[in-house]
Amino acid sequence: MNVVLGVSGSIAAYRAADLARDLMRQGFTVRVCLTDAAQKFVTAALFETLTGQPCLTDTFEEPQVGRMAHIDWARQADLIVVAPATANTINKLAAGIGDDMLTTIVLAATCPLVVAPAMNPQMYANEVTQESLRLLATRATAIVEPQEGDVACGEHGQGKLATNEQIVATVNAVAVRKKVLAGKHVVITSGPTQEPIDEVRYLTNRSSGKMGSALARAALLLGARVTVVSGPVQVSYPLQAKVVRVRDAVQMLEATVEAAQGADIVIGAAAVADYRPADPVVGKVRRSSEPITLTLVPNPDIIAHVARKYPAAKVIGFAAEPTSELTVAREKLVRKGVFAIAANDVSQPGIGFESENNELVLVTHDQEPISSGKRSKLQCALWLLQKIVVS
Ligand code: PMT
Repeated sequence: MNVVLGVSGSIAAYRAADLARDLMRQGFTVRVCLTDAAQKFVTAALFETLTGQPCLTDTFEEPQVGRMAHIDWARQADLIVVAPATANTINKLAAGIGDDMLTTIVLAATCPLVVAPAMNPQMYANEVTQESLRLLATRATAIVEPQEGDVACGEHGQGKLATNEQIVATVNAVAVRKKVLAGKHVVITSGPTQEPIDEVRYLTNRSSGKMGSALARAALLLGARVTVVSGPVQVSYPLQAKVVRVRDAVQMLEATVEAAQGADIVIGAAAVADYRPADPVVGKVRRSSEPITLTLVPNPDIIAHVARKYPAAKVIGFAAEPTSELTVAREKLVRKGVFAIAANDVSQPGIGFESENNELVLVTHDQEPISSGKRSKLQCALWLLQKIVVS
């Protein structure tokens, strides 16, 4: 399969060298096209040596006389990935501008496009850039959102190129994408809930929303319409997903019940607080020298409620357990009346809460449990959705 890797002028261009190799390891033939600005950071010689393929840089380059290279490459490409994609290149792609070799190739191509932005956080947050990304997403471009972190200009925020693993997983998903969820509506609960003690304090947990975000991205890649009901998180959700923000479990229940009406699949990746303070204090609990007692009352079980209310939907719960033992996951499967439980052993380092990776064990009513193996949350999410679809 032929992949054109377009590299535009971000400091993250150096990472495209590893990305080209990672894509080749997946069996893709990779040809690279560099914008002028990219050549300030990396060279055509680097990519020609790495890939063993010619690298295009100039709009009027014609390696084979009489054959227009941008048309040739566009025709031969099974997939184009632009990584890193600068604000300038993204805005040009969205507007249909073809003023360099890369943008003319994309304009002439009919294959799927994957765009991995990398830039200063303000440039990423800029309304024009966001509008361009939304526009590209509506044209079925897969956007691999940048990460939050320290960026080269010294600022902190969302703008760091996604990990190569995330980009490769997206390319793989797009390349083999059978739109098994086309026409389906997938609802995902994600992140923690915050249960107020008073107006400034609350009970919560370590969920970052990364698993929920990966599920949303995976469902979109498989062709679904996606709604995420999310507790308070920093993580970003894919632009194509509808996101309903809530704070506590009762709000999450209401929003999920509303979103799940007519949904085909509902996945509970949220870490919902099992209890909430019985009487949140108006104002602030004052300090005294006496111990105080906090009375907690049980929260509604959201996915159990949704499974009862919408029996036609496939409802999948998660089970965050501090063990690889599946007894509690099996008990949750029955007690909550759900189609399946994806158990993750949160006592293992490097998976579960907050981490980039996870390892899921799918527990169903009638099949032996199966494990995804340890992999990125996006790969786990793709694995889980594909298993659910065929079950
Ligand atoms: O967000 P990340 O940092 O990426 O971490 C991901 C994760 C560890 C949070 C995720 O993989 C996960 O395991 N989510 C479920 C966490 C959890 O609360 O598990 P639980 O065993 O307490 O709940 C079982 C299931 O019931 C879950 O689907 C949960 O969403 C649901 N539930 C729980 C309580 C409640 N009141 N309502 C619910 O719907």
